[in-house]
Amino acid sequence: MPHRILLTRQIHPDAMDALARLGSVRLWPEPRPIPPNVLLAWIREADACLSMLTDRIDGKVLEAGAANLRIVSNMAVGFDNIDVSSASQKNILVTNTPDVLTEATAELTWALMLTTARRVISARESLLRGEWGDWAPDGFLGTELWGKTLGIVGWGRIGEAVARRASAFGMRVIVLENKSRGSKTDTLPLPEFLAQADVISLHVPLTPATRKMVDASWFQRMKPSAFVINTARGPVIDSAALLDALNAGHLAGAALDVFEQEPLPGDDPLATHPRVLATPHIGSATAETRRAMALRAVENIAAALSGRRPPDLVEPRGGGTA
Ligand code: GLV
Ligand code: GLV
Repeated sequence: MPHRILLTRQIHPDAMDALARLGSVRLWPEPRPIPPNVLLAWIREADACLSMLTDRIDGKVLEAGAANLRIVSNMAVGFDNIDVSSASQKNILVTNTPDVLTEATAELTWALMLTTARRVISARESLLRGEWGDWAPDGFLGTELWGKTLGIVGWGRIGEAVARRASAFGMRVIVLENKSRGSKTDTLPLPEFLAQADVISLHVPLTPATRKMVDASWFQRMKPSAFVINTARGPVIDSAALLDALNAGHLAGAALDVFEQEPLPGDDPLATHPRVLATPHIGSATAETRRAMALRAVENIAAALSGRRPPDLVEPRGGGTA
C-alpha cells in the first residue's frame, strides 16, 4: 500500500509534486484551515501529516492518529501548535522548517520597525483622506533609529538575523540575557536591558516559560519612548497589559504581526489602536520562503517514511502545547 499523506492546506506546486511522489496525498482543498473534526477523522488514515501553524495537533488528534502516524511535519519554524510530548510518547516524529524563513522574518521585523518609527501608515492614511495641505515643519515627526539601541529578546537564528542588519541602520544591539543560551553580543540582565532599549524585538519561541513574558512589569520599566516589535508569537506578550501600557504612556508604540487570538478581528482594540501597527502573521510570507518551507516540510516527511531521521526533528519543550 502506498504511504498515505494528509496535507492540511494547498502548498507550493513544486512541493505538491514532491509529496505526490512519496505516496497518496489527501488534501484539505479549501482556502481556510482544515476544521478540527475533519482533521480528527482524516488523521486516523494517515502515515504522515503535513500541517500548518493554524492546525492544533493536540493529544486527542495524536491519539486518533497513533495507529499509523509516523510524522507530523509542521510548515513553520514554530511548533507550539503541536503537543510534542504527547507525540513523542506515541513515537510520532515532529519536525519544523527552520533556517529557510530566517531572513524573510528578519526583513519583516525591520519593515515593521521602520514603518512604526517613521509613522509611514499614519502619513499615508492622512494623505488618502485629502489632508495634505502645506508641508509642515512638525508634520508626522517620527523617531530616528540611527544612534538608538535595539534590544533583542531571543538570540536564535531570527534574532541574530535581525541584529545583523542593525549596523546598516546605525543601531547598537543589546541582547536580553538568557542563562540557558550563550550569545556573542552584549547581553544584559532584564532591568538594564529594559532601561537601555529604544526598540525591543521579540524572537523567542512560545513555551510555558515565554508565555506572557512581556507583562506589565516590563512596560513599567521600559523607556516611555520605546517601541515593541513582535514577529514571534502573540501570547509572548500580555496583550491586556500592552493596551493599558500604551494608554498610560509607558511605551511609544508597538508593531505586531502575531496575536493571542488569530485571526485578529479588524475591530480589535489592538488592531485599531493609533499607536499599534498590526499585520496578519506575515513574517515568512515571501514567495521564495513559502516555497522553501513547503519543500523542507516534504523533505522531513520523505525521511520519516523511508525510515531515516528527518533533518528538522524537534524535541519536547517542557510540557504540552505552549
Ligand atoms: C511562522 O510563524 C512560523 O513559525 O513559521
Ligand atoms: C505606524 O505605522 C504609524 O504610522 O504611526
